[in-house]
Amino acid sequence: MTTAAVFDRFGPPDVLYFAEMPDSEPGPGEVRVRVAAAGVQPFDVKFRSGAMSAFMPATFPQRLGNEYAGTVEAVGPDVAEFSAGDEVLGSAMLCAYATHVVVPAATVVRKPATLDFPSAAALVAASQTASGALDELSVGAGDTLLVHAAAGSVGTVAVQLARLRGATVIGTASPANHDYLRSLGAIPVAYGDGLPARVASAAAGPVTVALDAIGGDAIAQSTEIVADRHRIGTIVDDRLAAEHGIRVVRAGRSPERLSQVVALAARGELVLPPRAYAWKDVVEAHRDQETGHGRGKIVLVME
Ligand SMILES: NC(=O)c1ccc[n+]([C@@H]2O[C@H](COP(=O)([O-])OP(=O)(O)OC[C@H]3O[C@@H](n4cnc5c(N)ncnc54)[C@H](OP(=O)(O)O)[C@@H]3O)[C@@H](O)[C@H]2O)c1
Repeated sequence: MTTAAVFDRFGPPDVLYFAEMPDSEPGPGEVRVRVAAAGVQPFDVKFRSGAMSAFMPATFPQRLGNEYAGTVEAVGPDVAEFSAGDEVLGSAMLCAYATHVVVPAATVVRKPATLDFPSAAALVAASQTASGALDELSVGAGDTLLVHAAAGSVGTVAVQLARLRGATVIGTASPANHDYLRSLGAIPVAYGDGLPARVASAAAGPVTVALDAIGGDAIAQSTEIVADRHRIGTIVDDRLAAEHGIRVVRAGRSPERLSQVVALAARGELVLPPRAYAWKDVVEAHRDQETGHGRGKIVLVME
């Protein structure tokens, strides 16, 4: 049997409950994975609350969760690249908070032995989002990059990938997360009113590029800080992006991109610290995600 976290109506975290259903058999081109850990995203709480219902309807009882790491349990008739026992990770749209998922084999990435399951599940979406955004903004050596919400899951990865590319990085966070940002290689500054002046005094020269992972005021502030609007990107706020003539940079997810960041993590060159919750505490994990604060990445641990 598969146990999954589901909900029957949009609402607060406690609309989530556990339901049992028969295991799905993998069809041609598919594998069934026994899930060891699943990532929790801001997307999940927005979808569960109903904030996205106008353009993304639910089918009740609705499953949730887009990121998993686990062990292949069964493979479809024509799947040769994976076999039972392989440790893997990947995307599984709206179903990963579960003991089992069935996914296309073509989307599955192997998990290196040096990466534990929670750390692997943490990487699936945030690391690809950060990597794709830095590509779109052409971040490289010689740049000074401002990352808004640098202590969050996307920000944590963006800071480290930008440092690996040779950029100087300034990151915004609350003071409680400033030592954390320093440990990632970023110069921390507090977000809020007066940010452009604080960034100017933290930077040795011009800030050449900005990545926004919070939206709102951060976008207008970015236009005061970075001269070239083509080098200001947001992953959050499409409306303000259009208003200010900056870019939306949410593209480029693929198993190849995920494999690249997983390889960095396996070598210890990239970390995304999991804030782990036991699977039975999915409601608490959603309450934590809803605060909009904290560092690293929330992960549910099934095993
Ligand atoms: N995860 C993805 O793959 C993905 C993909 C596309 C879009 N997005 C969107 O990108 C956003 C960030 O996602 P995430 O997964 O990185 O979120 P997250 O892990 O929940 O991070 C939230 C971070 O925001 C910081 N923060 C709160 N208020 C802030 C403010 N006013 N200014 C600057 N930082 C502030 C917090 O820092 P403090 O604790 O220090 O306050 C916290 O570290 C969400 O809106 C999400 O929907 C995410």
